[in-house]
Amino acid sequence: MRIAMIGTGYVGLVSGACFADFGHSVVCVDKDANKIAALHRGEIPIYEPGLDELVAANVRAGRLGFTTDLTAPVGDADAVFIAVGTPSRRGDGHADLSYVYAAAREIAAALKDFAVVVTKSTVPVGTGDEVERLIRDARPTADFAVASNPEFLREGAAIRDFKFPDRIVIGTSDERARKVLGEIYRPLSLNQGPLLYTTRRTAELIKYAANAFLATKITFINEMADLAERVGADVQDVARGIGMDNRIGPKFLHAGPGFGGSCFPKDTRALVKIGLDHETPLRIVEAVLAVNDNRKRAMARKVSQALGGQLRGKTVALLGLTFKPDTDDMREAPSIPLVTGLMDMGARVRAFDPAGMTQARDELPEITYCEDAYHCAHGADALVIVTEWVHFRALDLVRLKQAMKQPVIVDLRNVYRPEQMSESGFAYFSIGRAHHRTTIVPEVVPERGD
Ligand code: UDX
Repeated sequence: MRIAMIGTGYVGLVSGACFADFGHSVVCVDKDANKIAALHRGEIPIYEPGLDELVAANVRAGRLGFTTDLTAPVGDADAVFIAVGTPSRRGDGHADLSYVYAAAREIAAALKDFAVVVTKSTVPVGTGDEVERLIRDARPTADFAVASNPEFLREGAAIRDFKFPDRIVIGTSDERARKVLGEIYRPLSLNQGPLLYTTRRTAELIKYAANAFLATKITFINEMADLAERVGADVQDVARGIGMDNRIGPKFLHAGPGFGGSCFPKDTRALVKIGLDHETPLRIVEAVLAVNDNRKRAMARKVSQALGGQLRGKTVALLGLTFKPDTDDMREAPSIPLVTGLMDMGARVRAFDPAGMTQARDELPEITYCEDAYHCAHGADALVIVTEWVHFRALDLVRLKQAMKQPVIVDLRNVYRPEQMSESGFAYFSIGRAHHRTTIVPEVVPERGD
């Protein structure tokens, strides 16, 4: 199959490289000439484990190319994927569709023989109809169909997620489009990736519903963590205990500082707007958003409490800044409100992140950037584990203690066992695990009986 991929962002580049790896002939298109020039030099603009090798191998094999001009690749394509950004629109939280519609207009001008135009970007329900209308208006005689094929890949695990998906959603009622997309994804049926054929609008809603549901799961366990701290329970065991129920499932029940990233915050906001537009207020999703925003802001107070409620003149060391490990992405990272809160309370902040410091410098220029975890801990009154990078899972606790001014650790990702930390002489604060709280906040004794 011949594929044109419009947009070389996260989804576009990963999908393009993986499709090429399946054996299809793929051209990735981006307006940004610098990005395309960099890709021609073999430089990958995003941090994603394994992507550079995958791109290089498929470029060498002649199956993957890059260009700034979509005319030829779209004219030749069996399928044209739109994988451009749909950021939150400033002011109202709606998805900004201007890049999608601009791409649709350009595609319209370049179409030749039958092609399926596929939206891979996360777009509000009904966007496929609008894309179809735009192309039809521009080229009344063009032979094309519009489908929705949302992407569920996670940053840091994108290639694996693409190649071993839980499902592939293909939203179109057009028979020819179903055939083309079925053929494009055929290599995945060998990996048991089930294809789910739906209408276009259903596919568009599935994407938002999936992200909102996962965000709800995380937010639910985060609230349970707060309660567990109060009543002297252990949220990790609560998560295990409920997750072993097949109807609930064990994933996305890891309590932490609140969800961030390029998808969950933006997509839950957009879904709330879609609900309002259709006179169907989505109260649960609204609550998830509000609870999550509050939670991110509350993390600075948690650090302050660990230091006796006083941060003025204190030094706080942060390990990890990105919204999750294995990415350099700082979008909506919990570290951002954390740093702001700590500074507002008068703390000095030092930080180390294995991949995110270049991005973080734009977002958080006022902190001291360090070369590794121990350098970061130097002279600190408290060390906060913000992102669960593998680098922070087996820290040399003796060395850490020597470097710090006082041995206080706030572990927002529950990377360590409380017993291990107190044996090593640290005051240790984590999420949703009450038994190693210090005397700063009095322990609430759970009531006996029912
Ligand atoms: C997410 C979806 O998983 C993916 O299917 C969709 O296509 C894009 O959005 P991503 O944003 O890359 O992917 O990261 P993910 O691993 O899902 O984590 C999102 C956020 O939730 C992170 O901030 C992470 O730390 C947090 N999280 C996740 C938790 O706090 N607890 C969990 O149990 C899982």
